[in-house]
Amino acid sequence: MCGIVGYIGHRDAYPIIIKGLQRLEYRGYDSAGIALYDGKDINLSKTKGKVEDLKNKSQKSISLEGKLGIGHTRWATHGVPNDVNSHPHYSNSGDLVIIHNGIIENYDSLKKELIKRGYTFSSETDTEVLVNLIEEVKRKEGVKLGKAVQIALNQVVGAYAIAVFDKQKPDEIVVAKLGSPLAIGVGENEFFIASDASPFIEFTNNAIYLEDEEMAVIRLGKEIKLRKIKDDAIAYPSIQELKLNLEEIEKGGFDHFMLKEIYEQPRAILDTYRGRLLAKEGIIKMAGIDDNLEKFLNANRIIIVACGTSWHAGLVAEYIFEDLARIPVEVEYASEFRYRNPVITDKDVLIAISQSGETADTLAAIKLAKEKGAFVFGVCNVVGSSIARETDAGAYTHAGPEIGVASTKAFTTQITVLTLLALKLAKEKGIFNNTRFHEHLTELENIPAKVEKALLTNPLVEIIADVYKNSTNCLYLGRGYNFPVALEGALKLKEISYIHAEGYPAAEMKHGPIALIDEHMPVVVIATNKGHYEKVVSNIQEIKSRKGKIIAVVTEGDEQVRDLADHVIEIPETLESLTPLLTTIPLQLLSYHIAVMRGCNVDQPRNLAKSVTVE
Ligand code: M6R
Repeated sequence: MCGIVGYIGHRDAYPIIIKGLQRLEYRGYDSAGIALYDGKDINLSKTKGKVEDLKNKSQKSISLEGKLGIGHTRWATHGVPNDVNSHPHYSNSGDLVIIHNGIIENYDSLKKELIKRGYTFSSETDTEVLVNLIEEVKRKEGVKLGKAVQIALNQVVGAYAIAVFDKQKPDEIVVAKLGSPLAIGVGENEFFIASDASPFIEFTNNAIYLEDEEMAVIRLGKEIKLRKIKDDAIAYPSIQELKLNLEEIEKGGFDHFMLKEIYEQPRAILDTYRGRLLAKEGIIKMAGIDDNLEKFLNANRIIIVACGTSWHAGLVAEYIFEDLARIPVEVEYASEFRYRNPVITDKDVLIAISQSGETADTLAAIKLAKEKGAFVFGVCNVVGSSIARETDAGAYTHAGPEIGVASTKAFTTQITVLTLLALKLAKEKGIFNNTRFHEHLTELENIPAKVEKALLTNPLVEIIADVYKNSTNCLYLGRGYNFPVALEGALKLKEISYIHAEGYPAAEMKHGPIALIDEHMPVVVIATNKGHYEKVVSNIQEIKSRKGKIIAVVTEGDEQVRDLADHVIEIPETLESLTPLLTTIPLQLLSYHIAVMRGCNVDQPRNLAKSVTVE
């Protein structure tokens, strides 16, 4: 959470930083700020609100000159979102200025110590404590900024990605990382700093990703040297060539990133299985699995850890692994798993699922499982992310950048990767014969075209959205493979439209939620023709008897549910295990349209951030 951007070089820093902050706004957007060095002084502007508000304020209030600058877009942790708590923060002398993504857990004791030494604080933030700690170390030890940052960070408990500069030495920026991402773009005698590569991709394809506990002094005209924060050992940066495409991070004619990403799903799913799924040859090729097949085949069980939408993909995977590959699976919220002293052995395989690859709880769960000897496999979207690096092996989803805070294509591509894995194991274990294996591979190959067809429901879904846009509550029901889809549908609605929504296994409804049903309650029911169709039809009858409004997602050609439901959305027929890839599409569209009609900020819903890098 929080996005940081910095620049030092020969270009004007202001437009680079502002544009960069706009691209990183998905990480946090309750306030924003910028500090520029104009050759003499630091000019700083910050405000509660969006980067657009910062742009308006800064253009009126400060000089925008300077070839050195840092900027920040915030997701508040310490202190409410307001102008004062926004970053950057000055040190007491006014010489140092810092931006920070993360949390300094021991900030209170450090602050008390600094107050005793005469420091004063204007904000409630942990970040202002850090910049003054650096200043105090610099003054007391008589060291340069880089060394002062290193000594100060050794006194800090928490997580950070920081960038700091000193107006007395304006040819360098010092950066450091622990737990929060930080990339350095390396150009021709210019450097960029950012939470991910999107702010600098049009200037350079060369990036260095700092590892945890590394820092660098970025100095013009010098090669970058990385150091370990703890023991000062030199670390050798590897410059990665980025393949990110500028178009992928722009809206491309859609009103919102979320809608663009919903529509990208046929391509994203195809990209995810491309080169891995060879239906004609009857092969699934995935290096991360092929190289570690024995670990999976000999595993006592698979434990899946994730958060949010990725956790829902994990729940779908539980059905897939148990049903197809007959491997016991436990799915855990990473935040619970890491703190409940779980029993893990070296016969366990842990699969961590994360779009961003930066979620703090998932990362901590991985570290715990590794300590206990489990083999850890990652399913991530962001290449080179912390989780991708921390796991023993893994498989990327190839969804492309997901910018909308509400996950859409990440979900379907995660399910695609996990399906490939389960099918491969089912074949290797001899559970699937060639015919059954071939049937599944061919049908998975057909899914992108079927998602295209499911997307054709958009105009109908928009009409349905209009009917229910003013609802205050909504229930989502599904069974078997589609129970996690019900959870995901409810999450999508609540996070972007702020309507209270609950997902339930359809049969569980009569154990409580049925009490909520009356003529004002919309109930979205997934009732595809495979699995427990007749049972779901009975559940629909129960809702109807209580006058609930039924929005049913059914397989095309369905007659029975059509007679009962208020609205019917048809999706193409497919194998039961693949239905989540289709049933989820109208639910994404429904939440999207309702949120738009309610005037909500679809891509940046209140209080949320795209990657949750704090616990
Ligand atoms: O990047 P991750 O997949 O690890 O993120 C996990 C959750 O924070 C994320 O899925 C969140 O729930 C989304 N807002 C859901 O749309």
